Amino acid sequence: MLKVGFIGWRGMVGSVLLQRMREESDFDGLESHFFSTSNAGGAPPPEAHHKTLLDAHDIETLKRFDVLVSCQGGDYTKRVFAPLRRDGWSGYWIDAASTLRMEKDAVLLLDPVNRPVIEAGLRDGVKSYIGSNCTVSCMLMGLAGLFQHDMVEWMTTMTYQAASGAGAAKMLELVKQMGRLAGKADATPGASTDALLAEQLVTAEQRHPDFPVAEIGAPLAGSLLAWIDSEVPGGQTREEWKGEAETNKIMGTKRTIPVDGICVRIGTMRCHSQGVCVKLRRDVPLDDIEGILRASNPWVRVIPNTKEATLKCLTPAAVSGTLNVPVGRVHKLRMGPEYLGAFTVGDQLLWGAAEPLRRFLGMLRDRS
Ligand code: HSE
Repeated sequence: MLKVGFIGWRGMVGSVLLQRMREESDFDGLESHFFSTSNAGGAPPPEAHHKTLLDAHDIETLKRFDVLVSCQGGDYTKRVFAPLRRDGWSGYWIDAASTLRMEKDAVLLLDPVNRPVIEAGLRDGVKSYIGSNCTVSCMLMGLAGLFQHDMVEWMTTMTYQAASGAGAAKMLELVKQMGRLAGKADATPGASTDALLAEQLVTAEQRHPDFPVAEIGAPLAGSLLAWIDSEVPGGQTREEWKGEAETNKIMGTKRTIPVDGICVRIGTMRCHSQGVCVKLRRDVPLDDIEGILRASNPWVRVIPNTKEATLKCLTPAAVSGTLNVPVGRVHKLRMGPEYLGAFTVGDQLLWGAAEPLRRFLGMLRDRS
């Protein structure tokens, strides 16, 4: 039986991973052990084979595992991965963090769209399998059909990214910000019937020195932030840089397909959305495009380009907590018949984080 160690299972991505594994009875057929970076000896979840938490910094213990699954974050990966490999550990390392993504002996996980790339990795003896950037994963779950049919000359991506992508503390601060804004308007006579008064109160509250911004760094509720992650040369942010780097690595493209745009944080909880402009390599009728998108994987939902369907199905409110990836607003842009517009929404914690890891662990279990 495959002996699997879980690290970082209590955090947000780890919790969603465990929840999904329970829903799918994935623990059957695995010998599961749980690690902690701070509470070794404490109580593990009920699925644990070993009835106490193991020490996540103990390389000798980690080395005894066939598979290690880390949702602990990049700093932990930096600290233990190299020593483990240096010590000769040749097990499978499955990681949600970005640290190892661009290593040449690492494969990016998004099996509904890149299963051949993953299977080639397994055949070639690759042992590091890394979850991809959440925005790129959610976008490709919706649009991979276009890449699989070699239809994309280039693509722009304008993102609308949820607070969850920045971490649990940011989500909680966003809710606090929302509460402060609504509370101020609720408590002021006349603000429920006077929109300009409500706006003045909201804006003043956002600018108030006591407004809670310790985590996010700026008001996000009732606002947006056009910067995600650190700066890289050339004017992009690292999040924007990942668009091209990871899309091409996930899909295993032969030539680099240019992908670029502006990544924006908005005040949603856990769904990332993208408005894209695709320059097609040839003019393809819309019906054919929709058929290609629909056939790409069982979770993609092509939403009719109508107001009613868009408002009902193509929103974070409709998608949160589900595996559906709606793609809508699909239409040819005014620039010409080779320019396609579309909009995608995906759950950042599911397809953007936990689900590809869970599914790859299942692939390993089925092979063992
Ligand atoms: N970097 C992403 C974000 C999350 O900030 O939304 C994980 O890929």
